Amino acid sequence: MKIMKLYLQNSIFRLILTLLSSFILSIIIISCEEFLPTAPESSEILNEPIEGLTPSQLAAHLQGDEQFGKIFGVEDGLGPIFVNTSCENCHVADGKGHPFIQLTRFGKMNLDGTFDPMTEYGGAQLQQRSIAGYPPEEIPAEATGKSILMPPSVTGLGLIEAVPDELILSYADPDDLNGDGISGVPNYVDPPDYFQPKPGFHISNNGKYIGRFGRKAGAITILQQVTQAYLQDIGITSDFLPEDLYNYIIGSGTGDKVSDPELSASVVKSVEFYIKTLKAPPRRNENDADVIGGENIFKKQINCSGCHIPTLVSGPSDIEALNKKDFHPYTDMLMHDMGSQLDDYYTEGSAKTSEWRTTPLWGLGLGGTSQGGKSFFLHDGRAKTIEEAIIYHGGEASNSRNNYYNLSQADKQKLLKFLESL
Ligand code: HEC
Ligand code: HEC
Repeated sequence: MKIMKLYLQNSIFRLILTLLSSFILSIIIISCEEFLPTAPESSEILNEPIEGLTPSQLAAHLQGDEQFGKIFGVEDGLGPIFVNTSCENCHVADGKGHPFIQLTRFGKMNLDGTFDPMTEYGGAQLQQRSIAGYPPEEIPAEATGKSILMPPSVTGLGLIEAVPDELILSYADPDDLNGDGISGVPNYVDPPDYFQPKPGFHISNNGKYIGRFGRKAGAITILQQVTQAYLQDIGITSDFLPEDLYNYIIGSGTGDKVSDPELSASVVKSVEFYIKTLKAPPRRNENDADVIGGENIFKKQINCSGCHIPTLVSGPSDIEALNKKDFHPYTDMLMHDMGSQLDDYYTEGSAKTSEWRTTPLWGLGLGGTSQGGKSFFLHDGRAKTIEEAIIYHGGEASNSRNNYYNLSQADKQKLLKFLESL
């Protein structure tokens, strides 16, 4: 009997102990879950393929993704002069880069008003790093213009590339005939010799074509942007641009020890395909009443949409996911004079030094994720908040900016909430 009682007591004690320890354990697990990283929602990230790719397109996308992340070393032909060692180092998770990871370009304004990109001094882009045994570049004292460029996000660009020139031209209003103070113009640039215009899609203007990519729209196609990035940013030659960069400090014969071209056309094209098939930045909270109110203010009250056009339509594409689609980048793809504060006395193509391509606003609220938790806006990242970015708008955007100043506090908050949802 005594043994039975003891046994009972013992098992009750053990039961209590088990219950207690599982209770403590579950508390630990629950509180740890708060600290464990959970997979981010698709609406919070950029680095995903566009929906609707075929299995073989998806495989090609993933192949390009690997190349986008590849870090180049001396043995791969890095440099001899360069800015960074991989695409992804600057375009972190396909989002905006940090303003500390900048590109610098320079040039000289001639007395006759033409712009000299100073190629004989290693312009227009500065390569401030070099592999051992080679001097890095410096900006020559004669340069009159210097542009600091922060890496933009690279998502949704396949849709932008698929917009026919005709649609972009329909928004241009060089003489401001509608009297809204906004006179967007395309940036016409010289095509590289590997550019193949699509008939009925690309419209030639005396042999020049509309630039779309880069903050001054200096590149016509994604292929051109990618090819130039390999050479100018990483010092990697390819079948498209087979010669190493000219380093004016040591003159000719500046190539590294790896024979050129260092990259085949197929690798460059796989990265082109990767960029082309990245999804458009996702919206968040789009049905929130304040967000909808803010969107109305943006479009109907203060004419931000005079430049940041909400919806564009792509033309025919052999990639079904890009074929004749409505999408919402909030840009007209045109150049606008943004006033003296944003003038960097540097330019590309036919753009004036104070002109910039309307930045697509999609992904605006996600910028900070790839910028170390803080956000930076405008071409050089000088604005720390969306409101600051608006305040820097001058020139053709002055009316819009002044209209923003005149909004009530409540309306300003709605507008900012809308912009955060992009
Ligand atoms: C040193 C940092 C750096 C590296 C490395 C780099 N980029 Fe960029 N990228 C930038 C900057 C800055 C811009 C804006 C350039 C401009 O305004 O002309 C840009 C622009 C782009 C754009 C155009 C985006 C737009 O909205 O128009 C694409 C596409 C792109 N880069 C792809 C690449 C690829 C692919 C690689 C690798 C081969 C690469 N980049 C390497 C900094 C970098
Ligand atoms: C005249 C054309 C024009 C109008 C009107 C205009 N913008 Fe812009 N916006 C631009 C251009 C061009 C840039 C790029 C400027 C730069 O990077 O220096 C820009 C950049 C921005 C940016 C920074 C984006 C980024 O990712 O860095 C924000 C935010 C913005 N605009 C919001 C607005 C809002 C809100 C309005 C209405 C109050 C507005 N814009 C009106 C042309 C315009």
